[in-house]
Amino acid sequence: MVRLNNYIIKLLKNKLNSTEIDGNNLSLLNKGKFANAYVFRYSQGNTDLTIKDFTHCPWPVRITLGRFMAKMEYNTIKLLEGTPGVASEAFLLGKYSVVFSYVRGTPLSEIQKKDIKLPKEFFIELEKRVREMHKRDLVHLDLRNLGNIIKGEDGNPYIIDFQSSLVTKYLPKKFRKILEDSDISGVYKCWKLVCSEKPDSEKEKFLEDFNKLRKIWIFRGYPLHRAMRKIKRKIKRKINKTSK
Ligand SMILES: Nc1ncnc2c1ncn2[C@@H]1O[C@H](COP(=O)(O)OP(=O)(O)O)[C@@H](O)[C@H]1O
Ligand SMILES: [Mg+2]
Repeated sequence: MVRLNNYIIKLLKNKLNSTEIDGNNLSLLNKGKFANAYVFRYSQGNTDLTIKDFTHCPWPVRITLGRFMAKMEYNTIKLLEGTPGVASEAFLLGKYSVVFSYVRGTPLSEIQKKDIKLPKEFFIELEKRVREMHKRDLVHLDLRNLGNIIKGEDGNPYIIDFQSSLVTKYLPKKFRKILEDSDISGVYKCWKLVCSEKPDSEKEKFLEDFNKLRKIWIFRGYPLHRAMRKIKRKIKRKINKTSK
């Protein structure tokens, strides 16, 4: 772990062209397993950054999925630049890390654990921000995960973790609509779980219908997720075989 911290600090020093970068300002936020990133925060004065790093992954994963995911997140954040509620200042760090601004606040997963409820305005704004993202031809596809939405210090919703996102520009309209609806169903799910006021009957109905569709969906999950899961499983099997 110390080696990884030092490596990240070295890369940051080079990239930001600064000798003031100090390892003491680097902290681990989340230790992802296998093909998931280690997430760090680097905070010093006006610099406050999130670093998602895949260096720890077994090398076959690192040089394929890891590299791909870092790039994917970078490209997405760049594409969404200027959209309210999305991190900014994205850049790639080395081959296996992506860096973007740190959002000060609390993820909804923590808010739910503490049984705190948020006002409905928060979710109205969240829906607005998600629809704004859709207008830019992008779906997130992991908004049902409460860890991917942060209540910022300004009280507003912020969306993070664009690893599973997808550009919808060239998709058939019907398919695009299903994917966008799946994001909206994520918003309403969060609304149901963490809001002081239940969603209105129209939204409840939307959620109910979408959940039914999810169950019978022939892909049994999002195609991209399924493909990713399949690749991860294959790589894992190969690694287990070679380490035996
Ligand atoms: N930009 C950010 N601002 C603040 N916290 C973040 C940011 N990005 C990630 N985190 C924290 O790190 C955790 C894991 O990051 P995430 O991008 O969701 O990775 P994973 O792919 O492992 O789910 C989040 O739940 C959140 O607590
Ligand atoms: Mg996440």
